Amino acid sequence: MAFSFLKKNQTGSDETKSLPEVLPKHVAFIMDGNGRWAKKRGMPRKYGHREGAKTFHDITRYCRSIGIKNASFYVFSTENWKRPEEEIEAIMDLLWEYLNDCDEYLEQEVRMIFIGDKSRLPERIQNRMKELEEDSKKYDKMNLILAINYGGRDEIVYAARQLAEKAAKGELDPGEITEEMISDHLYTREIPDVDLMIRPSGELRLSNFLIWQCAYAEYYFTDVLWPDFARSELNKALNDFAGRGRRFGGI
Ligand code: IPE
Ligand code: IPE
Ligand code: MG
Repeated sequence: MAFSFLKKNQTGSDETKSLPEVLPKHVAFIMDGNGRWAKKRGMPRKYGHREGAKTFHDITRYCRSIGIKNASFYVFSTENWKRPEEEIEAIMDLLWEYLNDCDEYLEQEVRMIFIGDKSRLPERIQNRMKELEEDSKKYDKMNLILAINYGGRDEIVYAARQLAEKAAKGELDPGEITEEMISDHLYTREIPDVDLMIRPSGELRLSNFLIWQCAYAEYYFTDVLWPDFARSELNKALNDFAGRGRRFGGI
């Protein structure tokens, strides 16, 4: 089954003309504003999630085509369980639908990596995630990182527990724990730190997304709501990033 839609805001074939020469190695997206997008149209929130999922599909394809090596997307946070059950169910159903329509990523040699605590997710979703990770692990054109039941603090706790277990077994001296070792025990262990973090919808916060990995990220905020986030919006963010002076504490 292939997606048979074209985003209304998709630009023409010359869309890549305005791209900068140097691209970030890792771009992260907080896909926010779906609910407000629907509300503005007098529609239920789940309608906004469906539109947001279409944007997700289009932006992932675009990232792959322009040569972004690592693209992360915040799909569902550890805090999102606070939402009404009906909305959570709609999001899980949509997720299930999309996880069953990933052939194109595999054809495009995209590796899919799921980060977050999978254990709280419905079993069929957990199984599908494992299958996709397994089927795509040989690919290296782009890492598509999907954060589902993900929380940055939860991830650091997960890393701390693994290191503590090793220390308890005598395999590790606590005094010798390094930043690198912590990075190596995060869900993102194989992924470089975030270079560019993009948050649409006008909110100016991380909401617990990749907090360790964003220590030296550049941030790009826009008022555009995620369902309206077109390829041209990503071009703007990439150009903005290209003009930033990154010093990492140096001069
Ligand atoms: C982001 O959109 C999607 C998820 C958190 C799953 P929201 O649902 O948070 O949309 P707003 O912020 O209420 O507009
Ligand atoms: C962040 O958006 C989570 C995802 C996009 C999955 P939220 O809408 O949950 O964040 P807050 O509540 O505005 O911080
Ligand atoms: Mg939100």
